[in-house]
Amino acid sequence: MPQPLREIIKKLKKELDRIDPDSSYLEAEILLSLVLNVEREEIYTIDFIDEEQEKKLDYLLKKRLKGIPISYLQKKKYFYDLVLYVDEKVFIPRPETEILLEKAIEIIEKRKINSLLEVGVGSGNNIIPIALRFPDLKIYAIDISPHAIKIAINNAKEYNVYEKISFFIGPYIFPILLRNIHLDMIIMNPPYISSDEIVWLSNEVKREPWNALYGGFDGCNFYRELFRELKLLNHFYIVFEISPLIYKKILKIIDYYFRDFKILKLITHKDLSEKERVIELECQRL
Ligand SMILES: C[S@@+](CC[C@H](N)C(=O)[O-])C[C@H]1O[C@@H](n2cnc3c(N)ncnc32)[C@H](O)[C@@H]1O
Repeated sequence: MPQPLREIIKKLKKELDRIDPDSSYLEAEILLSLVLNVEREEIYTIDFIDEEQEKKLDYLLKKRLKGIPISYLQKKKYFYDLVLYVDEKVFIPRPETEILLEKAIEIIEKRKINSLLEVGVGSGNNIIPIALRFPDLKIYAIDISPHAIKIAINNAKEYNVYEKISFFIGPYIFPILLRNIHLDMIIMNPPYISSDEIVWLSNEVKREPWNALYGGFDGCNFYRELFRELKLLNHFYIVFEISPLIYKKILKIIDYYFRDFKILKLITHKDLSEKERVIELECQRL
């Protein structure tokens, strides 16, 4: 028998309260919009859902209750002013990364940057707004995950910036070193979750690809490896995201790795909760 939509929403919300009461109503609307194949705002134009739709809803609800993130069920994520395709094999962009993106945009404008690389491009959430904003910038994007590169390429095509970005599958900045490409600036938001933190991760976060999350025993392995490659250059300028938990350790690692370099710039930017989130580092070989 067809069920009234308002009753269904109430039931859904109650179930979804078990995950997060703050977002349960919104998520109930999203699940319904997926089943009804309409935008979320349009669901209230429909009064009843039929048995077939109810079965689909049940299936999605079970997945959500098992901890699959809503973005993976929706196959999309809103970030900055974009709507990006995402699936289980790619990292879901986080709101705090908009600080990295905004800083990068500010610097590109101020310093008249001509070439830029993002290491660990993921779904393309940082590189696409940059490509849209700076049509003359030479842009490179690297990720070790072939699937992430495929998604970033498809998202870039959706926004008509695919031709403006050179994509490489590979580790750290290795593809750039191999081709001897000059870079004015590098940005990155690497995996930085430490072994200790893993036990505290929610079921949802555990559904995301490990190579996008795990940063080794102390969360700093990616930085160490990348800095080792940066030491091959005479000059570099990098802007990167960190977890506030590893801030002090990262400063020590910078000191250690770049002791043969003159540090021209080392600035920390805080996030909205006043925690260290982005570091700007410029070094010149002594
Ligand atoms: C935390 S996600 C960041 C994704 C996206 N740039 C963002 O800001 O939301 C880290 C990304 O780094 C990639 N990655 C992990 N290890 C890597 C490596 N050794 N070299 C290049 N990319 C790597 C992962 O596949 C993942 O896409």
